[in-house]
Amino acid sequence: MAGLAVNVDHVATLREARQAAYPDPVTAAALVELAGADGVVVHLREDRRHINDRDVSIIRKTVQTKLILEMAAEKAMVAVALEVMPDLVTLVPEKREELTTEGGLDLLVHRDHVKETITRLHDSGISVSVFIDPDPDQIETAHKIDSDMVEIHTGAFCDAETVRSREENFRKIVNAAKAAHELKMGVNAGHGLGYDTIKTFKGLNEIDEFSIGHSIVARAVMVGLDRAVREMAALIQAL
Ligand code: PXP
Repeated sequence: MAGLAVNVDHVATLREARQAAYPDPVTAAALVELAGADGVVVHLREDRRHINDRDVSIIRKTVQTKLILEMAAEKAMVAVALEVMPDLVTLVPEKREELTTEGGLDLLVHRDHVKETITRLHDSGISVSVFIDPDPDQIETAHKIDSDMVEIHTGAFCDAETVRSREENFRKIVNAAKAAHELKMGVNAGHGLGYDTIKTFKGLNEIDEFSIGHSIVARAVMVGLDRAVREMAALIQAL
């Protein structure tokens, strides 16, 4: 059965909208765990636009399940990871001007650099995942550079505007998940997933965990974080 890791970045986005002390993603991390999340995800961006170093440091100390740190494959971020020692690092591409992570990490272009980063993290005992598009060459390269897991980018599927495009993009996800599983890598999936799109994954047993943030935090504004997480966890349990 697939798990649910909840990304609490956008609790921090709301805090930063007023540069206030609340809502605190540290509190949110505890609440999502109490609601049944299997892990807490934070993306520490280079510009610290939402999650900051203080958040990561406290969540590391208080998390009861596991902490997944999303970060760019940059030296300064590796130093942070070695200090924090998350349970998993997910390497993501990062551009300062983007609204959110727009595409997967292109391992065909950045192969050597990403491999170096993976080796550095492995040397310190940290498991690594790479956030990549559902493309067979990306999956194969992830395996070749020793990534423990892949996180398949589900954004193109979630944002598809026609049935045909949605189906095509989902087929790519299915093939990528099966290929990664076959290569004995762990398989996570995320980006843009919501309470409807998640249902499409019924029967795709190769996925270990879904990483979901925006839709859960958005729903939490209306119904509360506990209910928003429980509802998503129940949908995943039913897959
Ligand atoms: N996975 C990765 C690698 C991401 O960068 C993000 C967005 O921060 C997510 C999952 C979660 O995406 P969303 O907030 O759209 O659920």
